[in-house]
Amino acid sequence: MPLSSPEIAASPSLEMPPGAAVVEFKNVSIGFDENQVLRDISFRVERGETRIILGPAGGGKSTLLKLANGLIAPDSGEISIFGKSLTGMSEREIFELRAHIGMVFQESALFDSLTVEDNVAYRLHEEHVHEAEAHDRVVEALRFVELEKAIDKFPPELSGGMRRRVSIARAIISRPDLILYDSPTGGLDPITSTTIIELVVKQRDVSHTTSLLITHRLQDAFTLATHRYSQSTGHMEPIPNGELDPSTKFLVFNEGKIVFDGTTRELTHTEDPWLKAYME
Ligand SMILES: Nc1ncnc2c1ncn2[C@@H]1O[C@H](COP(=O)(O)OP(=O)(O)OP(=O)(O)O)[C@@H](O)[C@H]1O
Ligand SMILES: [Mg+2]
Repeated sequence: MPLSSPEIAASPSLEMPPGAAVVEFKNVSIGFDENQVLRDISFRVERGETRIILGPAGGGKSTLLKLANGLIAPDSGEISIFGKSLTGMSEREIFELRAHIGMVFQESALFDSLTVEDNVAYRLHEEHVHEAEAHDRVVEALRFVELEKAIDKFPPELSGGMRRRVSIARAIISRPDLILYDSPTGGLDPITSTTIIELVVKQRDVSHTTSLLITHRLQDAFTLATHRYSQSTGHMEPIPNGELDPSTKFLVFNEGKIVFDGTTRELTHTEDPWLKAYME
């Protein structure tokens, strides 16, 4: 799939207090009934970073993204996004903050009764963007994901990979300062997964948007760490000389705790027995 339309620009840089991270969790815990899901989690994601989140199923990865998006609140600890604490924010303030965040939900979460155009434009309609401008931006976002032809289709008419691409178009339409990708390749075959990861790489290298990305596939993670989008070929290419993408970092969870927080090189050279076993 040629990726030849790098028109989606980053939004104007959001004002952040000096020294602030884009995402910061401090001693965050959350549980549902008796089930303690995240225990005393602390980490920072700096501007421009792509943070890959790995860990066993049911380990609390989606919960973490929902916390970062203000969809749920922690039982204890503090979460700051763009240097602003979510604690004590009103619904209105959280709504405004969320306008700067693009979310790709696990299983795409599209509205089956709306066309691709109306799904992608959803946020623009909420913001009362003028119809003609909204249409142009939908076309631009769909071109980015190579899906302009599907603009009038309905989600049930699309393949799983196409639905993921619509979901990515919907997330980037507002030119977000932070993108949360929840398992964007989950349930897809390896070839389709690679086309989705190629879009994530393109978005990263064209717009430098800070992102958190959950994946079950180590292959996706290492593709992100070892490839770069090439404007000239319109594809992602391996970074020469075995070098690694410096913006890609990892967070690995197990049983509600962070077991690894660091770079690709640190992860691949780990001596931790659990991590070594997990990576195999
Ligand atoms: N709203 C909720 N109410 C009750 N339990 C919940 C809720 N959301 C999540 N859980 C529980 O929290 C745990 C973690 O769920 P979560 O969806 O965050 O895991 P995950 O790491 O994303 O898993 P997967 O890899 O399968 O997507 C699970 O045991 C789940 O059942
Ligand atoms: Mg999940």
